[in-house]
Amino acid sequence: MPSIVIVGAQWGDEGKGKAVDALGNRVDFCVRYSGGNNAGHTVVVGDETFTMHLLPSGVLNPSCTCVIGNGVVVDLDVLAGELAGLRERGLDVEHPLISANAHIITPYHQVLDKVTERFAGNKRIGTTGRGIGPAYSDKINRIGIRAQDLLDPDGLAEKVEASLASKNQLLAKIYNRAAINPQVVTEALLAHADTVRPYIVDAARLLNQALDDGKVVLFEGAQAHHLDVDFGTYPYVTSSNPTAGGACTGTGVGPTRIDRVVGIVKAYTTRVGEGPMPTELLDETGEQLRAQGNEYGATTGRPRRCGWFDAPLVRQAVMINGFTDVFLTKLDVLTGWAELPVCVGYMADAHKIDGWPLTEREVEAAEPIYEILPGWTEDISQARHFGDLPANCQAYVRRLEALIGCRISGIGVGPGREQSIIINTLL
Ligand code: IMP
Repeated sequence: MPSIVIVGAQWGDEGKGKAVDALGNRVDFCVRYSGGNNAGHTVVVGDETFTMHLLPSGVLNPSCTCVIGNGVVVDLDVLAGELAGLRERGLDVEHPLISANAHIITPYHQVLDKVTERFAGNKRIGTTGRGIGPAYSDKINRIGIRAQDLLDPDGLAEKVEASLASKNQLLAKIYNRAAINPQVVTEALLAHADTVRPYIVDAARLLNQALDDGKVVLFEGAQAHHLDVDFGTYPYVTSSNPTAGGACTGTGVGPTRIDRVVGIVKAYTTRVGEGPMPTELLDETGEQLRAQGNEYGATTGRPRRCGWFDAPLVRQAVMINGFTDVFLTKLDVLTGWAELPVCVGYMADAHKIDGWPLTEREVEAAEPIYEILPGWTEDISQARHFGDLPANCQAYVRRLEALIGCRISGIGVGPGREQSIIINTLL
């Protein structure tokens, strides 16, 4: 099984690091294909916790080559900062390879992200403020800056100037902000050129060659299905395609070369930022879930919105991503509840909805229909085989499996690397 895509099935923060860990040291290439430093993945190694936003999680594995695909938007300051941070902690990490076609987040993208959110008032998206949306807007508008532009300083200066010509009008005349000096931006980007230049590559060719050679390639999704700009809860989404198809368009590897697509599913539901969330619990139970699951954003520190498991939400992700397997995370967080409600459908405007709602309006109006499953009180953090789980816990997993329509091949029972139950090996 040489190529495997990992995708979050809900609204992010499903604990993708857990599944990546389960692949052990067998991954030769770890590739990011969408998003930027809006992501946040936490990897626990022994007593140490590492949180990364832009670097692929394979960076901690010395035998793994990390690649940032063309579908990613790269903040060069963040990249340098994350590498320096890991090296300061004594890790001998390699600089990732970067697709020549990957777009660069510039300081003006960050300014625009923040200022447009402020202007949007109660219609704001709740972005991470990292410049992600404006960088992708420039890509689609064909006025973006790409990694390869660092190889051509004069061309870069022209592009920055052209891009800022209209943005400065907008900043000064609409948003009442100071104009941004194109020369300062160009210099800031070029300050990274000497370091980054040797790592700018034709990533599509490299990865296809790696697959020809039988190497194991892991495509590491950032964000998640329901934050996808096409399939998520639009407009409360990110500006790229975290769904499995993004692994192809975001790297240049064709769909026939993908062997396995693994959905990462949290045993309950969380969301950061604005937008609809049918099973959100605004009461003490929600607070208890947040406390037990330590549900605070890895990127912004914001408290995550928490709720019960939403089966139609995940079933939709199973269909669109074509998951071959699901890895269920944070099952241990549910220990101790007498009853566990699971959403099996919705009511909206007095109609029962089968599956995921069709329109934005229906998603906003969706009221969950719950099936109540019995809980368990036994500690499951030491379980390493499915049979070690208490009967009610096994029944919970089996019921989720039936409701989402995909086999559950792995289960996370604690934050530690070894705290997993592997039912079907992922590689
Ligand atoms: P942006 O990606 O910064 O533009 O933010 C758009 C929406 O996606 C906001 O609701 C963010 O909170 C959310 N978001 C972006 N990245 C992540 C992530 O990695 N995990 C969870 N939510 C995210």
